[in-house]
Amino acid sequence: MLPLEFKQQMQEILGEDEYQKFLKSYELSPNKGIRANRLKIDRDQLKELLPEIFEAQDIPWTPDGIYINPEERPGKQPGYYTGLYYPQEPSAMTPAQALDVEEGDLILDLCAAPGGKSTQIASKLGDNGSLIFNEIVKNRVGILAENVERMGIKNAVILNEHPERLIKNFKERFDKILVDAPCSGEGMFRKDSAVIDEYSPDRPESCSVKQSKILETVDKLLKPGGEIVYSTCTFSPLENELVIQDFLDKYDYELLDTGLEGINDVKVNIPNVRSEILEKTTRIWPQVNEGEGHFVAKLKKGGMPGRIKKNKNRNTNLKRAGKKDLTDYNNFRSKYIPEVDYRNLYIYQDKLINLPEAIGPEDLAGLKVHSAGLELGEFKKNRFEPSHSLAMSLKKDEFTNTYELSEDELWSYLKGEELKPETVLDRGWVLLCYDGYPVGFGKYSGTIKNKYPKGLRIYKK
Ligand SMILES: C[S@@+](CC[C@H](N)C(=O)[O-])C[C@H]1O[C@@H](n2cnc3c(N)ncnc32)[C@H](O)[C@@H]1O
Repeated sequence: MLPLEFKQQMQEILGEDEYQKFLKSYELSPNKGIRANRLKIDRDQLKELLPEIFEAQDIPWTPDGIYINPEERPGKQPGYYTGLYYPQEPSAMTPAQALDVEEGDLILDLCAAPGGKSTQIASKLGDNGSLIFNEIVKNRVGILAENVERMGIKNAVILNEHPERLIKNFKERFDKILVDAPCSGEGMFRKDSAVIDEYSPDRPESCSVKQSKILETVDKLLKPGGEIVYSTCTFSPLENELVIQDFLDKYDYELLDTGLEGINDVKVNIPNVRSEILEKTTRIWPQVNEGEGHFVAKLKKGGMPGRIKKNKNRNTNLKRAGKKDLTDYNNFRSKYIPEVDYRNLYIYQDKLINLPEAIGPEDLAGLKVHSAGLELGEFKKNRFEPSHSLAMSLKKDEFTNTYELSEDELWSYLKGEELKPETVLDRGWVLLCYDGYPVGFGKYSGTIKNKYPKGLRIYKK
């Protein structure tokens, strides 16, 4: 049952006719989508690989999104485990779509978990650029990191910080920032009735205070001339247009058109909001679009980018990897990944990490770092053991010893079982692939010893 106060608010915003259509949309089931991970595959290639049961149809507002049959479970398909796509609510694909991602950018996703939009930004950015994904809630960081790893992202640091704590290290550093703000979630009522249970009529007001505070912090983190995309999955003007209007009144920003295409608009009645804000921001209405409620705004900071002051922190646990430290890794590299090169190598405890190009160890000093870029592997006694993250970030032809799994073998592998291939392979590390895409490592010596991380193993299909 929709909350009464929510219904009254929607009636005021939409007017009686449109409100009735809006209410009717709650009789339909929510749409389900997946988004192609461009780091591995594009939408057309993905559609060819997907089973027919998906009934794949393009989502109009992103070049990567596909609607799928709502009965299907995309998290139970091989392509999920090879990181070819991310299951994502279709409207949730708009904020990262609105963010202008350019080669070489340093981008912050401030409210990142579980990582739908983070992984979308990474997919748009490719390898040339640097990403910081931050999540304030500690127990949400694990799932974010898991998604980042599965999608094969190489250039992201994952932090678990309160936004304000980032200012010391990253003052006016970011080219772009996504603020997918914590909100009252009114747009998710159809998809998830638990959100209705958590709702109270004063939620929009309290959320808007938090949202304005977050934007104040974001201003300090963004370069002059940089851009913010602000989004919520709620309908309340208090958390959407009014947060943006208030911010524009206080700070030197220009409101940009979101540039989103393929979205059907609805005329709304929101008192005390300037027409420019209604025109340039985007709302997704479920009665005229195949997606849940969402709001997106895009802002450009005034001023010209100046010189970035280098961070002087020295208190860091990351040590630059010297030639001597790298002997075992270099042996591994020349045998298995001779064409792959990492240039920003650091050691943390026994782990070898490649930091994103624009990030130095001093940038991470004093912060709660969950992962500092791509973990390549671990130094063990006289040998280097590659990590699962490395496996997921590679292309099949970048590894010299690979084995293509049958579907039965894939499920056995994901369960943690040993494999007994009929063909003879080269002894040592082997990159296991399905449909030509890596799913993890094994180690061959007559049989394939399973190196799929214990925490990721599945016990039934
Ligand atoms: C809408 S969710 C983010 C969803 C995510 N962007 C995605 O696409 O998967 C909002 C996130 O903001 C976090 N959050 C809550 N309070 C916050 C605060 N004061 N500052 C920053 N983030 C906060 C929540 O833990 C939550 O993960």
